[in-house]
Amino acid sequence: MNIMSRMILPLMRRLDPEDAHRIALDALLLGLGGVARPGADDPALSVRAMGLRFPNPIGMAAGFDKNAQVVRPLARSGFGLVEAGTVTPRPQPGNPQPRLFRLTEDRAIINRMGFNNQGIDRFAVRLARLHRVSSPRRVPGAHVPVGANLGINKTGADPERDYPMLVGRVKHYVDYIVINLSSPNTPGLRDLLEASRLKGILDAINTAHPERPPLLVKLSPDIAPDDVPSVVEAAIAGGVQGLIVSNTTISRPAGLRSPYATEKGGLSGRPLRTLAQEMLARVARVVDGRVALVACGGIETGADILDRVRAGADLVQIYTSYVYEGPGIIARLKAETLRAMRAGGFETLADAKGTALK
Ligand SMILES: Cc1cc2nc3c(=O)[nH]c(=O)nc-3n(C[C@H](O)[C@H](O)[C@H](O)COP(=O)(O)O)c2cc1C
Repeated sequence: MNIMSRMILPLMRRLDPEDAHRIALDALLLGLGGVARPGADDPALSVRAMGLRFPNPIGMAAGFDKNAQVVRPLARSGFGLVEAGTVTPRPQPGNPQPRLFRLTEDRAIINRMGFNNQGIDRFAVRLARLHRVSSPRRVPGAHVPVGANLGINKTGADPERDYPMLVGRVKHYVDYIVINLSSPNTPGLRDLLEASRLKGILDAINTAHPERPPLLVKLSPDIAPDDVPSVVEAAIAGGVQGLIVSNTTISRPAGLRSPYATEKGGLSGRPLRTLAQEMLARVARVVDGRVALVACGGIETGADILDRVRAGADLVQIYTSYVYEGPGIIARLKAETLRAMRAGGFETLADAKGTALK
């Protein structure tokens, strides 16, 4: 347990969630997130996907570092991939507060932040600087791939114009790019997951940027099961290298105990786990190995990670469990994943991938 988990987290739980988030970012900048030795991950945890090598499969999901301010501290604290954003073309304040709720009894969060962020100009400057300082010093096997998660403004948006513009602004500085079409908090955004709209956006990106890092689409867990094949096929036809399954849900699974359960917004954490796992398996069956899969939603143990890999995931991401447990969760998840792999008779994650689908 580092100082963050032992002393700071219990205090932060008493704070307003947005204040706590700001303090968490400051603490990371001060180096209180801990430092994992570069290149120290067990080789059994390493993953090759989308032409990239990841030292371990555990990523920080989008939304934690919306402005790319703590990419390096997050990478140093032991994550195997770090995704910054969602960033929009222009800065925007997001929805009125309160807009972030901790459902402590349910180990969950509801948020309706609404893409509050400083905009692509500041985001791109930070990533460019990071790219410049980190490239020459890479320890072999220790590079942590960085992703940029892109979205559109609440007003004045034109997806076919905005997403290609955003891709152009980050493509030289990141290892992968995510098109976020699944936040429930930007009106109309999830309509873009409809197959023909998705194809139009991907075509516009491909035309403007034939050379670019791997592109992923982040899916909603609320896509109707019957619509999954057409959305996945449209993404693959549009040339994506991967899919992230999934974002938060607007559904409210039975049994939520927190008084905040009726707040509007996207639900994440433990109550999302089953939904996200089922959606992953559904998507994986359609994908059938053609593109990479990043699992996200309610992951809080090594057994959860192995379950997602067995359901077809190459990589995973966490957000809510990190908020509740702090940076110490990364080392715990790695140790538990290795134990779960050994117990299941898997030497590598690649050996385990998709075995639950057969
Ligand atoms: C406060 C908060 C803000 C988020 N903001 C974003 C975002 O800007 N972009 C995005 O793609 N996902 C965002 N997410 C969704 C997470 O990346 C993740 O998909 C979701 O929380 C499920 O994972 P979890 O159960 O491990 O939290 C946000 C989640 C939370 C809790």
